[in-house]
Amino acid sequence: MILEVERLAIDYATRAGRVRAVDGASFVVPEGRIVGLVGESGCGKTTAVRAIMGVLAENGRRAGGRVSFKGQPIDEATTRRHLWRDIAYVPQSAMSSLDPVYTVGSQLVEVMTRRGGYARAAARARSAELFELVGLSESRLADYPHQFSGGMRQRAAIAMALALAPSLVLADEPVTALDVIVQRQILDMLRGLQRRLSLSVVLVTHDISVVAYLCDEVVVMYAGQVIESGPVREVLARPRHPYTMGLRNAFPDLLSDALELVPIEGSPPDLADPPPGCRFAPRCPFAMAACSATPALIADSRAPGHVSACLRDGEVEQLRPLALDPVTWQRSSSYATS
Ligand SMILES: Nc1ncnc2c1ncn2[C@@H]1O[C@H](COP(=O)(O)OP(=O)(O)OP(=O)(O)O)[C@@H](O)[C@H]1O
Ligand code: SF4
Ligand SMILES: [Mg+2]
Repeated sequence: MILEVERLAIDYATRAGRVRAVDGASFVVPEGRIVGLVGESGCGKTTAVRAIMGVLAENGRRAGGRVSFKGQPIDEATTRRHLWRDIAYVPQSAMSSLDPVYTVGSQLVEVMTRRGGYARAAARARSAELFELVGLSESRLADYPHQFSGGMRQRAAIAMALALAPSLVLADEPVTALDVIVQRQILDMLRGLQRRLSLSVVLVTHDISVVAYLCDEVVVMYAGQVIESGPVREVLARPRHPYTMGLRNAFPDLLSDALELVPIEGSPPDLADPPPGCRFAPRCPFAMAACSATPALIADSRAPGHVSACLRDGEVEQLRPLALDPVTWQRSSSYATS
């Protein structure tokens, strides 16, 4: 495993009190794999990757858990040593990794001379190489970020992350806000880079179709917790958590008989005051009184690596077909008593 995250807990201090944005999340990134970290807005995805990078917001702190990179524990103090050289980060908005007042090329050179100890001439040569790697023409190194399209900015942000030849890249929503064709181009490029450079990648997204398209493994987060994870094909073909079943309904390509997109009504809970027991219960069509207990992650003996935290895991074969029926997800409907 290149990265192991065990029971990670991250708190933000806010005026309204403590917000535990990541609450006991565990997952692993196998070497040379692309792991999708997926969940709706506010589920703690960015907080988790920023905590791994050691670049949390000022009011954030690690309240518990362990992160290991290549078997060595890393914490807020020691991640700085790995930053960019071993582990690189493509932030959620590509614009936030690019400074509007400098050319993109000079920013690439800056990363390499300041963080990587490159001589200027070598950094310039490497910039051209990096641009070629991400499919940008060398002549665009002289452009300013505003002269780039959204897709080009993402490519530049990826080039910047790759500057010091890291082995692990954490990319936060690299294709969000791009149109579908550009999304595909960037995802295909990421897959190509991952193979060519033997990278391990954590790809953060709220879109499960992006996970299906690109990732080898998936980690599903809900309300700061990992509620299901495993190999992508297995988890998307046989989701065990109702939240994952709900997310999958937004991806009709995977479903032979459902063409309708079915949203999960409501939104994730306020993490300043999460509901007791299963955090998905207020939105879960299968919630029962027993769901006021806290579900633990359960492994599937038939599917190695597939874990899920639902108290009705034993009934999953009955629940899964019901989850394909849009009626199940209507507020008025409830299988709580079935
Ligand atoms: N600096 C901060 N201070 C206080 N709360 C924060 C801070 N940053 C994030 N949060 C809260 O932590 C929770 C998780 O946020 P985070 O940005 O990690 O989620 P996310 O899954 O990346 O969402 P999105 O898809 O919107 O990017 C949210 O409730 C958010 O409001
Ligand atoms: S534990 Fe209960 S509420 Fe939570 S996902 Fe499972 S069935 Fe739904
Ligand atoms: Mg985010």
